[in-house]
Amino acid sequence: MNEEREKEEEAVEKRELIKDGKRLDGRGFEELRPIKIEVGVLKRADGSCYFELGENKVIAAVYGPKEMHPRHAQDAKMAVVKFRYNMAPFSVDDRKRPGPDRRSVEVSKVSREAFEPVIMREFYPKAAIEVYVEILQSDAGTRTAGINAASVALADAGIPMKDLVSSVAVGKIDGQVVLDLNGTEDNHGEADMPIAMVARTNTITLLQMDGHLTAEEFGRGLKLAMGACRQIYELQRAALIERFSSSNSGSKSEKGGNKNGT
Ligand code: CDP
Repeated sequence: MNEEREKEEEAVEKRELIKDGKRLDGRGFEELRPIKIEVGVLKRADGSCYFELGENKVIAAVYGPKEMHPRHAQDAKMAVVKFRYNMAPFSVDDRKRPGPDRRSVEVSKVSREAFEPVIMREFYPKAAIEVYVEILQSDAGTRTAGINAASVALADAGIPMKDLVSSVAVGKIDGQVVLDLNGTEDNHGEADMPIAMVARTNTITLLQMDGHLTAEEFGRGLKLAMGACRQIYELQRAALIERFSSSNSGSKSEKGGNKNGT
């Protein structure tokens, strides 16, 4: 355990997640963790993205549109979107048993639904669009990081979308509404509320809540999260613009992996 983590654990034992008006990792209440976005990192996927949110490290890969198999699962009018969220065994403190579990099935479902209003599925009848999110390292907020990564990977794959989806969580620690909880805050806090949103139109496409917030805290938290989604949207957009302005032929082998950070 590193020194910083030891100090965090000590403070948590004293039940202090906020000290001198700051959070244990030094952030203000309305501050995001550092974000890094790389586009086109996998040459065999049609679109891909590496996304970091603080200590979370996530890869999204997109395949398709391609013919949907098995055929009986095809939709004659539109593409079927498959979304698989998966945590690597080494991504959590205690080794995670490989393979799907109840939590990953739930996260996959809500993440897929977060994209339903934006992917223009009607362009590709009988097709499948596959989205894979792999969590390499986790520190709370992995579903939001996965959605942000998937959004950029879908755009990198050229899947027609009305707009990007951006995602972040808000929550409550030591009675304070704060943005983007880290692992310690999530474990010892009072509430966690991930949202996803189409930033340009303010359309919420995912909203979950674990714990309890008053109506006033909910309203304040939602506003805070919506503002943060707009910030994330700008970073996603900038990463995509950088990727496409620097790739001249657009061939897969030349996919560079451009970086964008805060
Ligand atoms: O990651 P996210 O906040 O979207 O989902 P969560 O279910 O609220 O999980 C919060 C955190 O708990 C994860 O990011 C992981 O760091 C941790 N976790 C874990 O250590 N082992 C699991 N089997 C699942 C989650």
